[in-house]
Amino acid sequence: MTSISSYIEKHKQRFLDELLDLLRIPSVSADSNYAKDVHRCAATVAESLRNAGCEHVEICETSGYPIVYGEKNVNPDLPTVLVYGHYDVQPPDPLDLWNSPPFEPVIKETKLHPEGAIYARGACDDKGQFYMHVKALEYMVSEGALPCNVKFMIEGEEEVGSKSLGTFVRENREKLANDIILISDTGMIGRNAPSITTGLRGLSYVEVTVTGPNRDLHSGLYGGAVANPINVLAQMIASLHDENRRITIPGFYDKVQEVSKEERQLLAAAPFDLQEYKDALDIPDVMGEAGYATHERNAIRPTLDVNGIWGGYIGEGAKTVIPSQAHAKLSMRLVPDQDWEEITELFQKHFEAIAPEGVSVAVRPHHGGQAYVTPMDHIGYQAAHKAYETTFGKAPVPQRGGGSIPIVALFEKELGSKTILMGFGLDSDAIHSPNEHFGIWNYFKGIETIPHFYQHFTALSQGE
Ligand code: BES
Ligand code: MN
Ligand code: MN
Repeated sequence: MTSISSYIEKHKQRFLDELLDLLRIPSVSADSNYAKDVHRCAATVAESLRNAGCEHVEICETSGYPIVYGEKNVNPDLPTVLVYGHYDVQPPDPLDLWNSPPFEPVIKETKLHPEGAIYARGACDDKGQFYMHVKALEYMVSEGALPCNVKFMIEGEEEVGSKSLGTFVRENREKLANDIILISDTGMIGRNAPSITTGLRGLSYVEVTVTGPNRDLHSGLYGGAVANPINVLAQMIASLHDENRRITIPGFYDKVQEVSKEERQLLAAAPFDLQEYKDALDIPDVMGEAGYATHERNAIRPTLDVNGIWGGYIGEGAKTVIPSQAHAKLSMRLVPDQDWEEITELFQKHFEAIAPEGVSVAVRPHHGGQAYVTPMDHIGYQAAHKAYETTFGKAPVPQRGGGSIPIVALFEKELGSKTILMGFGLDSDAIHSPNEHFGIWNYFKGIETIPHFYQHFTALSQGE
């Protein structure tokens, strides 16, 4: 039997070319102008699953974008791995900050990626990463090295809140039944510091509108006499944090699980250089909740951020105006055991309560999801640990991720399965940003590591 590394060596160029083709499809789920491309991408993913040896490949239509499903059954007595990923991508804006067009992938060498990195929207999040699983499957099937059953579920609405997936999962519990869920949609610390993501934060996303006068007003004639919605909104947002950078919404922290001293120590073992961190972002200093280190603030603590704010005149030159309305989009990252719907309500109540007289405030909830933590004593985690040890030559460290994949908590609730997050991206890969990229080394390392997970998971499931 060919080893995975020699199989990769032999098919390297094709593995790369196939991913580049996938990246040429602008499958932006947030913008309906790309609807055709999103559907075309689903068809391409389905084809790639068939080519890799999947059976019963289906493009499952939903009220939104389709979910691509496929499976390969070896033996019903063996465990089943469910691979989840997403073929949709974030909008590429702002386009002028890209050094090359977002849907015309190019390979460039960088300091962190001396073998080259693929620059394209979705390269790391998540096309490059779910495609590692497709190629790992191709190897295992073609070499007769698939040790257990596998199911693939690749969706097209992750970046817009997985609206259709919840229903799909609830309606297809049997079809999706599995022993472990495997996802590559997170990151790792570095090539010399392999890590496994053991947690994801929850999310509550809201939009707020502050309305003042019934029309825009001359700021000379009315200034000082009526509330300016932008001034008011800015003040309201500023009041959401106190001097310790803690969130002031009453009840916000009530259900926050404090992470044990032992786990904080374990997480602190992950290599982190504050100076390098600041240098990489060109910031004079970091800022966050008092009493917590940077790697804790962005992973085990809840946060509140404004994602966008607008209103008034922003065109060329100057216009003296008091706008009728001001708007903002805000997100809160949540941790166990905060409930996103409850937090959304707390936010709404509080934001309405702090509105000064003279304006009205509307809060519109968007979407959200619960946080998730992978138990490290689970055989899935142990299997991943052994797989990384094999291909990186050293033990991986656990790392809590700050991002969100809301569907993971739902998988546990609806399917009763745990999720293992084997991410191979780097924080510096600029996901959701201009010039997103994914290291070629990382891509192949992922493909190499995944089959080892299957082997170890099957062995551990059988009590070996
Ligand atoms: N893959 C990311 C989430 C992620 C990235 C988690 C890196 C941990 C490390 C995912 O595609 C994403 O962007 N999720 C959104 C939430 C979603 C509901 C739009 C996020 O985290 O903002
Ligand atoms: Mn993703
Ligand atoms: Mn994303």
